[in-house]
Amino acid sequence: MTPVPVAVLVSGGGTNLQALLDALRDSAVARVSRVVASGADAGALERARRAGVPTTVLARPDDPDEVVTAAGGARLVVLAGYLKRIPPAAVARLRWRVINIHPALLPAFGGSGMYGRRVHQAVLASGVALTGATVHYVDEEYDRGPIIAQWPVPVRPDDTPETLAARVLAVEHRLLPQVVMELVRLGVPEKPVRLSAKGSAFLTGDKLAVDLDNAADGRTGGRADC
Ligand code: GRF
Repeated sequence: MTPVPVAVLVSGGGTNLQALLDALRDSAVARVSRVVASGADAGALERARRAGVPTTVLARPDDPDEVVTAAGGARLVVLAGYLKRIPPAAVARLRWRVINIHPALLPAFGGSGMYGRRVHQAVLASGVALTGATVHYVDEEYDRGPIIAQWPVPVRPDDTPETLAARVLAVEHRLLPQVVMELVRLGVPEKPVRLSAKGSAFLTGDKLAVDLDNAADGRTGGRADC
């Protein structure tokens, strides 16, 4: 079986891209076929080059034709720290094939301007005890499309935006590859799917695990512990 091509769109340093490159390197299921950056300064481009993955830098991220062409026929398009809006005409052409990772439990702490440190600052200012990571479909609005999977991260009383961001990011690196693999295993469904936590989303001790079930047909996703 030929691995399903997955395009990854980036704007920043690309640690989530790295997690995907690492997880899919030897996979028969899916592979990162192209990395598309919103600007030539994205550190993620270097990660792609090191992995031997072709790269594209968008001249006009607001041009739907350019965005769709850059995805290069990928079956699934993953926004991993991509800060530009996907033009509505591109969303329409790639409906339910574009997903995004967000460092909070959407629909809370999302939307225009909610990215990076600001998300974690807002979480801490609100006093919530729980944050986490969300993978969702991309629609015409920032951070609003149907949720595919979430994983919780407790907020500690002594957290700073930086300590919280680091713990959420570690979860992102587990959650995103697992969701990508599961969506590809399901054939990148034409309707939104929800992958839910298998049992409790918490483990005792310091173990970090992301363990998903496909709510639609009960198939069990892979498991990652560290
Ligand atoms: C991640 O926190 C992701 O959730 C958000 O942007 C950040 C990207 O980080 N959308 P990186 O570039 O993958 O390191």
